[in-house]
Amino acid sequence: MGISIAGVAPELHPDFVAEVTGIDLRRPPSPDDVAAIEAGMDRFALLVFRNQPIDDDQQVIFARSFGPLEQATGDLAQGAERRLRMELNDISNVNLDGTVMARDDRKRLFGLGNLLWHSDSSFKANPAKYSMLSARVLPARDGNTEFADMRAAYDALPEEERANLHDLVCEHTQIHSRGVLGFTDFTEEERIRFAPVRQRLIRRHPVTGRLSLYLSSHAGAIEGWPVPEARALLRDLTEHATQRAFVYVHRWQPHDLVIWDNRTTMHRARRYDPTEKRDLRRTTLEGDGPTVLQTH
Ligand code: OGA
Ligand code: MN
Repeated sequence: MGISIAGVAPELHPDFVAEVTGIDLRRPPSPDDVAAIEAGMDRFALLVFRNQPIDDDQQVIFARSFGPLEQATGDLAQGAERRLRMELNDISNVNLDGTVMARDDRKRLFGLGNLLWHSDSSFKANPAKYSMLSARVLPARDGNTEFADMRAAYDALPEEERANLHDLVCEHTQIHSRGVLGFTDFTEEERIRFAPVRQRLIRRHPVTGRLSLYLSSHAGAIEGWPVPEARALLRDLTEHATQRAFVYVHRWQPHDLVIWDNRTTMHRARRYDPTEKRDLRRTTLEGDGPTVLQTH
């Protein structure tokens, strides 16, 4: 049996979210599987795979079939402090010894940045293509992930506004997104590692040619603009882009794997009981170059 890809809630999100069946992610995907998933990602922007009880090796092998993986250089935990290898972003509240992080744990507080709408690795000069998030342990309730369709958000802007935004370039850094929540506790080494990068505000998808708003909590400035005016615009656009009509809420089940295209979507985590364990692991596909090199 081959892969099937069927839209989820097609009346709400006709070309945004789909569920994939007919594949076992514990085995390396065939070239046909990879092509079908890539076509699904281009047609939709988010694919859900249910009941995929994979381990870290299987997740990395599956992800690598789509191209080179990012290294988790944006995580706070590096070296001996890491729980997972560098090909896996640790999206959990779990310590090295398996216990749940203390409420005031520095890595936990940094990780709360995921509660803000963002696109993964927009703080890297070559930002992420796909993210693949595998749910290993979930709290009894809450902790959903919400996704916003940035193509639909772009399309819904008045034409004149689209033209005004077209050539703007923003500065993205994790120092900004964490600062929004009052987290300023960075080391000198982290301030250097997290230096701002430039990103276009409007991106064109390389396959479909569709334009998207490229927003992220990491964006704290627009080149050539006064900072308060830039932040006010970015807030306004984020409010526009995250209206319920453009949002899909993913309610996690154990062993779900969700793939999203960071070039055309934003997402955010939702709060959950901090005394409960939540362990998700992310593999991330490298992008194909800086967005500021886009020509059109
Ligand atoms: C991520 C992320 C949100 C969540 O994995 O990149 O932002 O709900 N996750 O954990
Ligand atoms: Mn994320």
